Amino acid sequence: MFRYFTAGESHGQALVAWVSGLPAGIPVDIAFINRELKRRQGGYGRGGRMKIETDQADILSGVRRSKTTGAPVAMVIWNKDWENWKEALPVEEHADTPEKYKGLNPPRPGHADLAGSLKYNLHEARYVLERASARESAARVAAGALAKLLLGQVGIEVLSHVLTVGNVQSALLPSWDEIKQLCARNEILFNCVDPAAEQQMKAAVDEVLRTGDTLGGIFEVVAHNVPAGLGTHANWDERLDGLLAQAVMSLQAVKGVEIGTGIESAVSLGSKVHDQINYSQTEKKFTRPENHAGGLEGGISNGEDIIVRGYLKPISTLRRPLQSVHMETKEVVKAAYERSDVCVVPAAGVAAEAMVALVLARCLLEKFGGDSLVEMRRNFDGYQAQLRAF
Ligand SMILES: Cc1cc2nc3c(=O)[nH]c(=O)nc-3n(C[C@H](O)[C@H](O)[C@H](O)COP(=O)(O)O)c2cc1C
Repeated sequence: MFRYFTAGESHGQALVAWVSGLPAGIPVDIAFINRELKRRQGGYGRGGRMKIETDQADILSGVRRSKTTGAPVAMVIWNKDWENWKEALPVEEHADTPEKYKGLNPPRPGHADLAGSLKYNLHEARYVLERASARESAARVAAGALAKLLLGQVGIEVLSHVLTVGNVQSALLPSWDEIKQLCARNEILFNCVDPAAEQQMKAAVDEVLRTGDTLGGIFEVVAHNVPAGLGTHANWDERLDGLLAQAVMSLQAVKGVEIGTGIESAVSLGSKVHDQINYSQTEKKFTRPENHAGGLEGGISNGEDIIVRGYLKPISTLRRPLQSVHMETKEVVKAAYERSDVCVVPAAGVAAEAMVALVLARCLLEKFGGDSLVEMRRNFDGYQAQLRAF
């Protein structure tokens, strides 16, 4: 069974990722994992924290001589900022001065501060925000990198690009090769294929930097080369569209998930929305001239690229804070502010790639199983032959 968990707090000692159920024999390239972590750190509009950290994964278990062993893989990403937070977040109790404690109150609207404090009976939000923070998504990206390495063994790749920041929209919809070129860049501005839109996005972020506000946007994750037949229509909780939606929605600040052109489809005609079916005699496969369905029909992959869009709300920590209420005094005051990003759409796209890769890895292993890569590949190749002979 393929499973993964994360642990760790934003300003704690480290983030931890635990991934279990990977077959033995998958080549593990640590440089690839670290590059994924670097991609998540990038983008215009990030706060000071990303300048402090240079995320790198230390693998503690489950990988020997650059291959998985079949045992659980444990990874640690150390927080450099921990040096500044040791006294505020000690593991063992000791007498604190209030300044060292670094409590957060009043709660920020849009963040987990108030809901989490009510739930856990905490009268300030430090412990809640430490775990709610999207710093956690670094651990997901490390886990997702392992999933990508597994998927890569059968030719599946997962990448993302940005469609909008605020109300600035890309005028271009990239091909797979264009997305690959975009994601190969070392410097990320907005990870958008449209250079003119990127400049407008930058201007929009500069404006909110000036006014103390924040921005959201839309990213698109594309999974390329996914075979038809992952996921199933048979049970509601195994539908691949549902699994992807849950995984991407679980990312911090994602407030909507769209498969293909699902949202636009709701106001279109059936004749305009559904992708007609062709057959390629040379490739011996069914093809579609268009992909409005985003590669999913009936909760099953149909052989086209899987396309998942995430709708990100604007960051909730505002330099010009909104109204809030102090949790102890119940006084109406301005919300707390602490160092924050103002726009994270490209980074959220990278984190969503990880979530999509983790879901696809799970479905791939469910369908093709295998304790070793050799066994899984044999099952996969047999299925591919079956599809060709269909
Ligand atoms: C990559 C990334 C970075 C984020 N950085 C911040 C940040 O610096 N400040 C902030 O207030 N929210 C940030 N967020 C969003 C919050 O973590 C999120 O809004 C909060 O945990 C509440 O969860 P919810 O928006 O999913 O309801 C970030 C989100 C992502 C995906």
